[in-house]
Amino acid sequence: MSETTEVAGNAAAAPPRNSAADAEARAIAVADTVARTAVEQADHAMRHWTDPTAGPVRIGSAQHLQMFCNMLLQTHNPYKPAVIDWPKLSPEALHRVTSLPIWDIAVQTEGRASIRVKTFAQTVSDPLLRIALEMDGGEEARHKVVLSKLVEAYGIALAPEPDYPPPDDPEWGWLVTGYSECIDSFFAFGLFAAARRSGFFPAELVETFEPVIQEEGRHILFFVNWAAWYRRTLPWWRRPLFALKVARVWAFLVWERIGIARGIDTDGVAQDANFTMNGSAALGEALTPGAMIDLCLAENDRRMAGYDARLLRPETVPRLARLARRFVK
Ligand SMILES: [Fe+2]
Ligand SMILES: [Fe+2]
Repeated sequence: MSETTEVAGNAAAAPPRNSAADAEARAIAVADTVARTAVEQADHAMRHWTDPTAGPVRIGSAQHLQMFCNMLLQTHNPYKPAVIDWPKLSPEALHRVTSLPIWDIAVQTEGRASIRVKTFAQTVSDPLLRIALEMDGGEEARHKVVLSKLVEAYGIALAPEPDYPPPDDPEWGWLVTGYSECIDSFFAFGLFAAARRSGFFPAELVETFEPVIQEEGRHILFFVNWAAWYRRTLPWWRRPLFALKVARVWAFLVWERIGIARGIDTDGVAQDANFTMNGSAALGEALTPGAMIDLCLAENDRRMAGYDARLLRPETVPRLARLARRFVK
């Protein structure tokens, strides 16, 4: 007798307890398990990626381009903001979340990033790079939707949103977004970990938001590899001009952050506050500034660890942070 027949025979002999309700409960449990497994697999896939081709890769080569584009494309997590189940918060947790002075600037930053990346994508002729950039811009648009859903779920009032015009110089817009993400993500990694450790945000909310933070990690990994690749593809006589442009971008970002810290953004619109400064004041109360920098550095390493070691890592901000750490307790 085959195993199947035996099982079927036993089932036939068992008392008839398979009510419709039981069957439905089992179907729901199976569907839940399948959905959870799919989410876990997508989550793992977005954090671990290695190019199957063995051997060294020269930075600036066609293989390098293919590698960093494939990294972004193949680690895309297809979550849908519309179906995120926002956890119910206790009154205290809800108060903590709604009174954080970051939501306006977070929504607007994603709106600007999305149009800047998409505009730059349109200027790129290499099909693989263009598709990767379009995905990057699409993920920024999705971050904005996630934030809007969060804001809606917890009844947070936002200031009226400005328009998001495409930049006059698409490359400038892309560089500004890329380098500003290198700064902001580095601190966001640490702040997010501090919020998780201290219980400032309930664990379910931290888990819900986690993929967005990792996505920013993928973006800066993609961006620094693009920048290194692009620099090497330029003819020698254009490289100084590009270096100058990058220096101007950094100067602009420093000026922008000083402006935001003073409560005025670079378009002259009063803003709620500086994300990092207020964020660290609100979330990292238990940590000294030195411990906060250590946490940012550790989280940066952890979030970058799962990707192909042949890809370059963001270096400037961690290096500056390590330098600052020598003078900060
Ligand atoms: Fe984003
Ligand atoms: Fe991003």
